[in-house]
Amino acid sequence: MSTPTLTRTVRSESPEETHRLGVRLGGLLQPGDFVGLIGDLGAGKTHLVRGVAEGAQVARSEVASPTFAIVYPYRGRIPLYHADLYRIADYDELYATGFLDLIGGDGAVLVEWLDRVPEAAPREYLRLTLSPVGDEARELRAEAFGTRPAALLTAWLAGNG
Ligand SMILES: Nc1ncnc2c1ncn2[C@@H]1O[C@H](COP(=O)(O)OP(=O)(O)O)[C@@H](O)[C@H]1O
Ligand SMILES: [Mg+2]
Repeated sequence: MSTPTLTRTVRSESPEETHRLGVRLGGLLQPGDFVGLIGDLGAGKTHLVRGVAEGAQVARSEVASPTFAIVYPYRGRIPLYHADLYRIADYDELYATGFLDLIGGDGAVLVEWLDRVPEAAPREYLRLTLSPVGDEARELRAEAFGTRPAALLTAWLAGNG
């Protein structure tokens, strides 16, 4: 694993704050961006992604729709692909789903449980690791690999620690 281009840590004191962080990130995402989310069940990965979807102008009803797919495609300001690798055993299984074809394509990609299949990450991406700090607080460690992810991270957290 290479060294991150840029690392930042930010603390969220509530679900609402995590949501707001997501909204701001969603406003900055561009096609080709890849965001990997890591953290145990209940860490707040999905919560953050819902904020991202709102920030990318995805209709709330689209995000709420329940499905058992590995990838949830959302139509917003740009296409957003929300994947959850929790049930994926390995790279071969992920490859078979066709998910990998979405990387570097027409939209931005957000992947929960990236640590299940770390090889799924492209060379340049933003990795977010969420850890509970008590009931309501979360530590969010952001590691950018590459120039574009570093610029994205800087813009995202500008004025926020
Ligand atoms: N600071 C916080 N940020 C995000 N979620 C929080 C926070 N504090 C408490 N929570 C709660 O933790 C849970 C996170 O759930 P979820 O986003 O589905 O986690 P994951 O997708 O990582 O399994 C929610 O019930 C949310 O209300
Ligand atoms: Mg989740």
